[in-house]
Amino acid sequence: MPSNTLYSDLSHYYNLMCCNIDYQEQCDFSHRLFQCLTTSATTTPVRSLDLACGTGPHVEHFLSLGYNASGLDINAPMLSLAQERCPTAAFTLQDMCGFVTPEPLSLITCFLYSMHYNYPAENFWQTLQQTYNALEPGGIFIFDMVDRDYIANDSGYTHYLNNSEGDFSFQSRWYDKKTDDKLDLVITITKQSGGIKEQWQDQHAMLALNTEQVVTKLQSIGFEVTVFERDYSRLKLWQKNMGNVILACVKNNSI
Ligand SMILES: C[S@@+](CC[C@H](N)C(=O)[O-])C[C@H]1O[C@@H](n2cnc3c(N)ncnc32)[C@H](O)[C@@H]1O
Repeated sequence: MPSNTLYSDLSHYYNLMCCNIDYQEQCDFSHRLFQCLTTSATTTPVRSLDLACGTGPHVEHFLSLGYNASGLDINAPMLSLAQERCPTAAFTLQDMCGFVTPEPLSLITCFLYSMHYNYPAENFWQTLQQTYNALEPGGIFIFDMVDRDYIANDSGYTHYLNNSEGDFSFQSRWYDKKTDDKLDLVITITKQSGGIKEQWQDQHAMLALNTEQVVTKLQSIGFEVTVFERDYSRLKLWQKNMGNVILACVKNNSI
């Protein structure tokens, strides 16, 4: 399956696949960080943009937190669902590595490891630069990532769900050959209904990242960077003993 097939053909199942994710918690975490770290003279309401917004769950929560929230994604069916979810928000169909915004923003976010979709590496560096350009001085970029040095190539994470359509299992795992900069995200969905079993497997080429290298690059662009453990229930600085991290990047006010 080509990359993004999952999001087009199976966009219907996407929200089921993500039903265990606490989107409210991720937005509350970002809101707290924004309040702690921003040095911008922000406009009210605060303008925010969610990169790779998918079906728009974060945009919905940012709206309820009082943000002037918007989203962008490369996939039209995902964006239709986002627009249905948040009729008043602006969504645009764009590739994040070349995105443009009509006005400077105070907060840009990118969740669920979606920055890894910037493959090859050139796209990733371009997205970091575009993000910097789109922020007002003192604005903040928050994203999560996995550090390749901690990827175990194991069976990843599976969750199960039953509803009126059938019994589902959703498995997602990383596979890193470690020979180049490609990281595979392998997603397997099975559905069992009325004695019929269906299975979809989707493999996405993503970018393998190293936290220290990404931090160095962000600093060279002009960001001040703080790295946290990827635990949205608390603010805990990264102790370098786990691979899942959140980067909070503040655009230097003096530039
Ligand atoms: C794992 S989903 C995450 C969606 C959402 N952020 C969430 O947390 O539910 C990844 C999303 O990234 C989008 N995507 C992939 N490559 C992209 C790109 N180059 N530019 C913009 N969006 C992209 C996909 O269409 C998909 O909606």
